[in-house]
Amino acid sequence: MRKFCRVGFLNVRRIILTRLFWQVCEQPFLFLFNPYLCRLKFNFMEIRDNQYQIQGVSLTRLAKEYGTPLYVYDGEKILSQVKKLQDAFSSVKLRIKYATKALSNINILKLMKKAGTGVDAVSIEEVKLCMHAGFEPHEIMYTPNSVSFDEIQEAVNLGVMINIDNIPMLEHFGTYYGNGVPVCIRLNPHILAGGNAKISVGHIDSKFGISILQLKHVHKVVEAYDLNVIGLHVHTGSDILDAEVFLKGAEILFDAAMEFKGLKFLDFGGGFKVAYKQGDISTDIKEVGNKVSKAFKEFCEEYGSELEIWFEPGKFLVSESGYLLVKVNIVKSTPASTFVGVDSGLNHLIRPMMYDAYHDVVNISKLEGPERVYTIVGYICETDTIAADRKLREVQEADIIAIKNAGAYGFSMSSNYNSRLKPAEILILNGKPYLIRERETFEDILRHQLEIEL
Ligand code: LLP
Repeated sequence: MRKFCRVGFLNVRRIILTRLFWQVCEQPFLFLFNPYLCRLKFNFMEIRDNQYQIQGVSLTRLAKEYGTPLYVYDGEKILSQVKKLQDAFSSVKLRIKYATKALSNINILKLMKKAGTGVDAVSIEEVKLCMHAGFEPHEIMYTPNSVSFDEIQEAVNLGVMINIDNIPMLEHFGTYYGNGVPVCIRLNPHILAGGNAKISVGHIDSKFGISILQLKHVHKVVEAYDLNVIGLHVHTGSDILDAEVFLKGAEILFDAAMEFKGLKFLDFGGGFKVAYKQGDISTDIKEVGNKVSKAFKEFCEEYGSELEIWFEPGKFLVSESGYLLVKVNIVKSTPASTFVGVDSGLNHLIRPMMYDAYHDVVNISKLEGPERVYTIVGYICETDTIAADRKLREVQEADIIAIKNAGAYGFSMSSNYNSRLKPAEILILNGKPYLIRERETFEDILRHQLEIEL
């Protein structure tokens, strides 16, 4: 026990010193001079030279060269989204903590790092992945939910910022690290917001966060353990359109924050909505930036200290950058529909079946000709509709269909259901395609399975 305490104390001291070092070294306006963000050309998927291209790279050529299904990410689009967010909050000390879970390929993480963002991680594995990609511990916000205390201890030992979302865990944390390791507290603001019930997480019946109504209890715990609370956090949901929702969350957080001394940042989570179809509205990031920054500055004045404002966007940064390219295996007419059966399905993109999400689809093999109404379905042995009743240029076997908005929660939620292989991933950067993940092989399906004598 004594040995444990000593190791624990040394660890805590190391963690605090590391944090202090980074706080001094941090360059708040890194993004202004960031070469990655200064050279953006903003050319996303477009028709040029009779082909659908991204940064001059033909998508049908990629499909031929690397096979399908294939995830393709437009690096320029990701960088432009980072810049949009930075610009919208240029009058306050913004820190972007990219939500790793949206798309966790290490090259995407490295790109974020180059663009000057930090990261939000929700598992110890994501924490390790971010560190592997080059993030310093102080750049990582760890927001676990229902994890064991062992995992939190591991994260503390790695030196990342811990965001705690329930009172028993806060007490555990106090027992081990009170008056030492800085901590953030995730509050549940009781706001019902988000694109659908499955991705609304800030309401009263959600498992996430400590109820705003339990603040008195939180203060008792903070005092009893002398907790070093340096941040407060809310995340109300995903696909939030309205600037007012962010403002409402902000006001709740400001009220709560006035009761805490020594805060360094307020974290408003993620949740900005992107456009999924033509004419669809997305969160007006400029409006959110203006309104929230103004309110934040007023709060800081009243609080008496210039805090950092953190956001943890996932979809906003990567959704529109991603395309899932699939090949048509069969065109099949039934009395009610014409189905286009492709070489992918809910195993690679679960969003349509899980959230009724709308993903635009384009037949990139046909630039002209008549349009017909089709329902795009996968090859999985259960209903897996990708896009119902869509107008596409006449589809034939072997055509390539691009499924748009597949950057966020596409590959990262993919599985081997039906013992299918996960796709390869390509990142296009500076007009060049890079293979950033190989297609799985049959050996991957067998890996970790142990054959016993029967
Ligand atoms: N911060 C926290 C604490 C979160 O739980 C999430 C998402 C984010 C940030 C990023 O949210 P975003 O900016 O991406 O909306 N799989 C669902 C979305 C689940 C989001 C879970 N949490 C989908 O495909 O719509």
